Amino acid sequence: MTKPANKPFYVTTPIYYVNARPHIGHVYTTMVADAIARFHRLRGDETFFLTGTDEHGKKVGDAAKANGVTPQAYTDEISGEFRAVFDRYQQTYNDFIRTTQPRHKQRASAYIKQLIDQGDVFLGEYEGWYDEGQEEYVTENNAREQDYKSAVSGRPLTRVTEKNYFFRLSKYQDQLLEYIESNPTFIQPDARRNEVLSRVRGGLSDIAVSRSTEPWGIPMPGDSEHSVYVWIDALFNYLTAVEANDRPELWPAQLHLIGKEILWFHAVIWPAMLLALDKPLFGQLYAHSYWISEGKKMSKTLGNFVDLTELDRYVEIFGLDALRWYLLTQGPMGTADSDFAEAKFIEIYNNDLANTFGNSCARVAKMIGKYFEGKAPAVANDEAVFGAGRWCETFSDAFDTLDLHAAADIGLDVVREVDSYIEKTAPFKLAKDPDKLPEVGTILYNCAEALRIASMLLWPFIPDKCEQFWSRIGFGHYAERLKDRGTGDLAEWVQWGQLKPGTPIEKGDALFPRYQVEKK
Ligand code: MSP
Repeated sequence: MTKPANKPFYVTTPIYYVNARPHIGHVYTTMVADAIARFHRLRGDETFFLTGTDEHGKKVGDAAKANGVTPQAYTDEISGEFRAVFDRYQQTYNDFIRTTQPRHKQRASAYIKQLIDQGDVFLGEYEGWYDEGQEEYVTENNAREQDYKSAVSGRPLTRVTEKNYFFRLSKYQDQLLEYIESNPTFIQPDARRNEVLSRVRGGLSDIAVSRSTEPWGIPMPGDSEHSVYVWIDALFNYLTAVEANDRPELWPAQLHLIGKEILWFHAVIWPAMLLALDKPLFGQLYAHSYWISEGKKMSKTLGNFVDLTELDRYVEIFGLDALRWYLLTQGPMGTADSDFAEAKFIEIYNNDLANTFGNSCARVAKMIGKYFEGKAPAVANDEAVFGAGRWCETFSDAFDTLDLHAAADIGLDVVREVDSYIEKTAPFKLAKDPDKLPEVGTILYNCAEALRIASMLLWPFIPDKCEQFWSRIGFGHYAERLKDRGTGDLAEWVQWGQLKPGTPIEKGDALFPRYQVEKK
């Protein structure tokens, strides 16, 4: 996912269905995109981060009906909820697209019209199995394997014969296969890439892209009897959003982030449509895995569903940065699912945030307070004690390969290095001898400077606390620069030796107070 020189970095999340309320899954993907967007802004890249809601189709139409309101009123409400929660959780998206907005509908419709005009979308007839709840056609093989029942709801599949518009997916099979084969990072992780490769090699049939039975959707251009199938409508958001912002040069996106269950649409149908439209393909599709909860698949009936109320409870107790840290460092990037468990949350919070970053900042500030009247001591500029030159590069590499866990660990490793340096040099012992004070000063300067750099690297994960720390050590201008989606200059900011001797260092309250588990 390397960024071509001088091109803005454009990252997207799925647009979320408004037939359900926001939960951990939606918050997670958006937060991953947020951390990645923050990293790019910190590095100085112009960045565009898109999220939004997917508002057409049968599921949404049915949910509105069940709630006794019009589909538009219904989508307005739930989409507003998504947006409000992303705002409350300080997600720094640049735009929030809704598929019911005219700016999207008009452009999506024009693309479909183009596909019709060039013969890539055509009117045909479908005869076969249909999963009504999912609004999906099911192949004969799959229908047999599923015992002619929906794989999702278990309800019987229906046999339908209907006129439909089809997209000539088969026509793009070879081109797509070749592209995926020759671009190893186009679909990631590798396990997902291999899944896609074997399905594409197995052969692609044309797919229905309209529904004649569902009125809540974009009308098929030139044929109002049909609506555009919700998935096709939705995929276009990635393109319509940047055009609506008058930023067509943002396309192609460098990164589409999705969950593993929507791989097929993004890895096969979307690139095939782009090929048909003669648009460049996106840089990378990354499909992460799933959150489960307390060791089990999340379910309303089991009562282990991590909904907003539950997430808010964690934010209330531990703070938003702590929730970010847990989701981003323990989350299901990669191919394994991750467990959201209270005991693990507390352990990670105490180990990483309270006992490591928080504690080290407090300890160093306290000694500077005690021995140097709260002012940064004079300096020996000894970056060699920490090997600071390496940090920034490995950190950027980790982000570029979307290894969030490794990226977070680099910041934390710097803090750990500071801790062991303090243990080794024991400034608190040296300080007992007044002659040794210059030596103590050098040690504490090195510690404070290393912590300043650590906090730069930790910022995409725990921005509020890092900014708080900066304001205590005289680097509030970093926060000013990054405010309102501004960009920084990481390579410059991590250069050793910027903390000025004499700068007031404020200890302040604990950044992450240790959490005591109540003994039952
Ligand atoms: N509307 C479609 C996407 C269209 S994109 C052009 C959709 N929406 S959704 O509301 O169901 O959101 C699905 C996404 O939410 C997943 O792809 C994933 O990003 C996130 N998650 C939902 N549940 C999740 C977990 N349990 N764990 C992690 N993320 C999951 O599909």
